[in-house]
Amino acid sequence: MRVAVTIRAAARDDIELLLGSLGVEHHEFFLGRVPLQEKGLGEVLLAFEDGRPVGGVFLSWGLATEPEVRRHLAGVPMIFHLHVAPARRHRGIGRALLRRAEANLRARGHRQVLLGVDKSNKVARDLYLWLGFVQPAEPDLRDLRATPEPGARDHSVGDTYDILVADLHRTVPG
Ligand SMILES: CC(C)(COP(=O)(O)OP(=O)(O)OC[C@H]1O[C@@H](n2cnc3c(N)ncnc32)[C@H](O)[C@@H]1OP(=O)(O)O)[C@@H](O)C(=O)NCCC(=O)NCCS
Repeated sequence: MRVAVTIRAAARDDIELLLGSLGVEHHEFFLGRVPLQEKGLGEVLLAFEDGRPVGGVFLSWGLATEPEVRRHLAGVPMIFHLHVAPARRHRGIGRALLRRAEANLRARGHRQVLLGVDKSNKVARDLYLWLGFVQPAEPDLRDLRATPEPGARDHSVGDTYDILVADLHRTVPG
């Protein structure tokens, strides 16, 4: 079932609401990205349903931490930490967040976007591939190992992740 969601850049007050709706790990992650948003290096987008945040994603147009990404995909903006509250999944909210993320990046003049997806995360990987993300040919953009940050675990411990890229002007299904 599709639901009416509102998606907008997070204000500091919105982030506090994430503690109750998404839990401590996601609250910490997005709280940690607000300073980057305030410096103009990225954007925290939140999805709201009935005034409550039910999902979020962080866009970054700063420097990638991975040397492999800087080498092969210099200047390509990044999508991090797409997350929808478990009880609100399968209703189009993840896709709506990605759609808005991509629209905002297009509006900033970008032509491509990239993200990292854990090897074991079949749900997210299938979604991205269906939406037209592709795995680049470069072998060093596969099987990357995460260096978790305190309070902001982007990837599962022990898992590796692959970089996927998408053309921001492709035709997207649905
Ligand atoms: C990944 C995640 C964000 C998806 O959010 P979501 O709101 O459930 O996703 P949506 O409902 O917008 O999209 C899923 C829908 O897209 C469509 N879809 C996805 N892949 C498809 C495919 N290969 N073919 C056809 N339709 C497909 C389906 O309609 C699917 O619905 P279903 O899940 O009921 O089958 C969510 O599962 C999540 O938060 N997971 C935990 C965090 C995570 O893994 N994030 C990714 C980090 S890289």
